Amino acid sequence: MVIIHAAPELGEFLQNLRLGGRRIGFVPTMGALHDGHASLIRCAKRETDVVVLSIFVNPTQFNETADFTNYPKTTDADLNLARSEKVDVVFSPQVADVYGNEMRTEPTDYGSLTAAFEGESRPGHFDGVVSVVRRLFNIVRPDVAFFGEKDLQQLAVIRHLAKLEFPELEIFGCSLIRDDDGLALSSRNTRIPRDQRSHALELHKALLEVAEASKSSGSLQAAIDRNLTRLQRNEHIELEYFAAVDSKNFAVLQSEETSNQSFAIVAAVVAGVRLIDNCRL
Ligand code: PAJ
Repeated sequence: MVIIHAAPELGEFLQNLRLGGRRIGFVPTMGALHDGHASLIRCAKRETDVVVLSIFVNPTQFNETADFTNYPKTTDADLNLARSEKVDVVFSPQVADVYGNEMRTEPTDYGSLTAAFEGESRPGHFDGVVSVVRRLFNIVRPDVAFFGEKDLQQLAVIRHLAKLEFPELEIFGCSLIRDDDGLALSSRNTRIPRDQRSHALELHKALLEVAEASKSSGSLQAAIDRNLTRLQRNEHIELEYFAAVDSKNFAVLQSEETSNQSFAIVAAVVAGVRLIDNCRL
């Protein structure tokens, strides 16, 4: 496994492989790697010839300084995981390698896709995500890039970015990976105290109940309302949103009718930790 910090060095290294006809797969991450990230790497190993994993905690996508400062950093464990998953190249840049002298973001307006839900809860978040992913795509120039359905809205935003600006690039969506108890794996989970974990699990339970209800006609909206009220009344949960949406544009579902793009989505703060989760309807 090669570890590269500088963008020009990575460009040169990958260009040689590209000229040799190898397909480049790219897995962008912010480190603190877990099984969810490992599943993306495995997907990339299956689909492409050379897997590049980036580890970069992007300052511009955090709308709260404390969240950025507290973001877990586990470099040695990350490199061990990358090695055991047979990552070919780890790209671990400094801020200046990605942003140059000026840490600037470009405003991104993809309508409801960037304005609703995560866009509304975290002002500026998608400006930061799109700005960094655009820069990383330009540095790595992958054939296929891998993103998790855990961050369902981010995946839709990146698909839109690729359609507009990187038409040759394939975006591959990978399934959400959960812990044994059902909690969606997240780098932030280590900050949830053990005795508060059951409250975090209420989010998954509510999603499952809505997914179950969506299978029987005429009860989706009732299940959303019931679970919304239950989550709102739970004093351990600061609910930000709970809704059924079309995952292509993040518009709220207007009828009981669902398609394979319909998802229930939730965001909430539990024990000071912001969690998001979703479930296909
Ligand atoms: P990060 O939160 O580190 O996630 C990196 C990738 O891992 C994302 O595509 C995310 O959806 C995926 N992932 C995280 N938890 C997962 C889980 N439980 N199951 C499946 N996939 C999971 O997302 C980011 O970083 C950043 O916004 C980034 C795209 C790197 C830009 O800075």
